[in-house]
Amino acid sequence: MNKIARILVPLFPAMALLGCGEQSVSYLSDVQPFLDKYCMRCHGADGEGSEVSGLRMDDYESLMKGTKYGPVVKPGDSFTSALVMLVEGRADPSLKMPHDGNKTPSQAEIERIKTWIDQGAKNN
Ligand code: HEC
Repeated sequence: MNKIARILVPLFPAMALLGCGEQSVSYLSDVQPFLDKYCMRCHGADGEGSEVSGLRMDDYESLMKGTKYGPVVKPGDSFTSALVMLVEGRADPSLKMPHDGNKTPSQAEIERIKTWIDQGAKNN
């Protein structure tokens, strides 16, 4: 390894954490397809998730409205967004989403949702 690489390589994880060079994540082309794939079978019309919690994910407006108790997405703060806490299983494991666990998002897919929230959860 040359000198420059020896200095730069250890910096890559830090740069990734700080979001250097991170692509902007789009609601329409990244987030809604994720919700359609993993969540909509229970959080669309007539889904059990919609019925019990009031949380629909048909579109941006319904997602941002949240459950009957309030928002699950906090723009700019993925760590304390209830949606992320449940998908990561950081709340009670019995509440892990998707509930049935038979189709589970990859870590990379979850990271994209978090990035979208951290970038302000825009309707983009
Ligand atoms: C198999 C059905 C099912 C799937 C799939 C599902 N959910 Fe849910 N979801 C539920 C049910 C039922 C509830 C009501 C609360 C409970 O029983 O945990 C709920 C509630 C929620 C809540 C609100 C919890 C609260 O604070 O009241 C969030 C946020 C949520 N789901 C997110 C998601 C996300 C994000 C996905 C996709 C990655 C997803 N769910 C997929 C069934 C599902």
